[in-house]
Amino acid sequence: MGAQIVEASALRHVYGDRPALNGLSFTVVEGDVYGILGPNGCGKSTLFRILCTLEKPQQGKASVTGLDVATGGMRLRGEIGVVFQNGSLDRRLTVRENLVAQGHLQGISGKPLNGRVDELLAEFNLEDRAKDETRTLSGGLKRKVEIAKAIIHRPRVLLLDEASTGLDPSARREMWAALKRLRESTPVTILFTTHLMDEAENATRLLLISHGRAVAEDSPERLKSLVGGDVVRFESSNPDFAAGLKERFGVGTQEAGGFVSVETPAGHRFIADAFEAFPGQIVSASLHRPTLEDVFFKLAGERLAGSEAAGA
Ligand SMILES: Nc1ncnc2c1ncn2[C@@H]1O[C@H](COP(=O)(O)OP(=O)(O)O)[C@@H](O)[C@H]1O
Ligand SMILES: [Mg+2]
Repeated sequence: MGAQIVEASALRHVYGDRPALNGLSFTVVEGDVYGILGPNGCGKSTLFRILCTLEKPQQGKASVTGLDVATGGMRLRGEIGVVFQNGSLDRRLTVRENLVAQGHLQGISGKPLNGRVDELLAEFNLEDRAKDETRTLSGGLKRKVEIAKAIIHRPRVLLLDEASTGLDPSARREMWAALKRLRESTPVTILFTTHLMDEAENATRLLLISHGRAVAEDSPERLKSLVGGDVVRFESSNPDFAAGLKERFGVGTQEAGGFVSVETPAGHRFIADAFEAFPGQIVSASLHRPTLEDVFFKLAGERLAGSEAAGA
């Protein structure tokens, strides 16, 4: 186990009278790929801005590499690399020029900078695109340049806020392959936020947050083991369907987005029994192994992506 490198303690941050963070605490250990998973509006970007010193916490404390975010200022910024939700590349500059410009911002120049840029181009397989303007790159390649840019000064912590937003699944995989290679070659700690359960699977440790509060924290595998057996999801025309299932089979049910979910050791049998018990009331039924979405739903009582999960 490494040392603690990011710490948040009872963070609370309110916009108007709505808390974006509501007593959030967690610890990231050096070398972690620490994921923060929660639906839109749960406070991820607010937390992110606090960790990278763009916003001061109203209550509570946070530190990165032992430096308090409220007072660590420039020194703290030197220890972190940041990839924001919206890209920060200059589209008219080439890949190399973007990296060089960032190096200058970080106070690196001359030979050391050129050497570092070469190293990053090699590390991220970008050598053959070095002279292309970044506007000509695919979404996945742009993200790789963003990451290279963020780590030009060799930060100890790399922070990514919904960095794969807008990427298709293959570009997202490409981004994560690059991050994993980076982690093998460099002792960097990664902290990332996402509302996508598939992306959250990349975490070595994962924090689930809902309404600005921690819901659970563990490895993705162990979190999924909190949901036993199969998950069956019903869509029914009967608004009292969940109550009916409970009464008839004595099972716990969860409702959201027009669906009723049940955890059960033998899903296929349960589906057959339910169809028999409630003829004509079931519009659809599906069966799957527990996902992080199921875990989140079980623990937080809400879905990660409302409209998607509702099948809208
Ligand atoms: N600058 C702001 N002014 C007012 N409300 C904000 C501001 N930033 C975020 N919020 C609100 O705070 C909550 C958390 O937002 P945010 O941290 O962006 O969550 P996430 O990144 O998880 O979507 C949301 O309800 C959002 O509308
Ligand atoms: Mg956000």
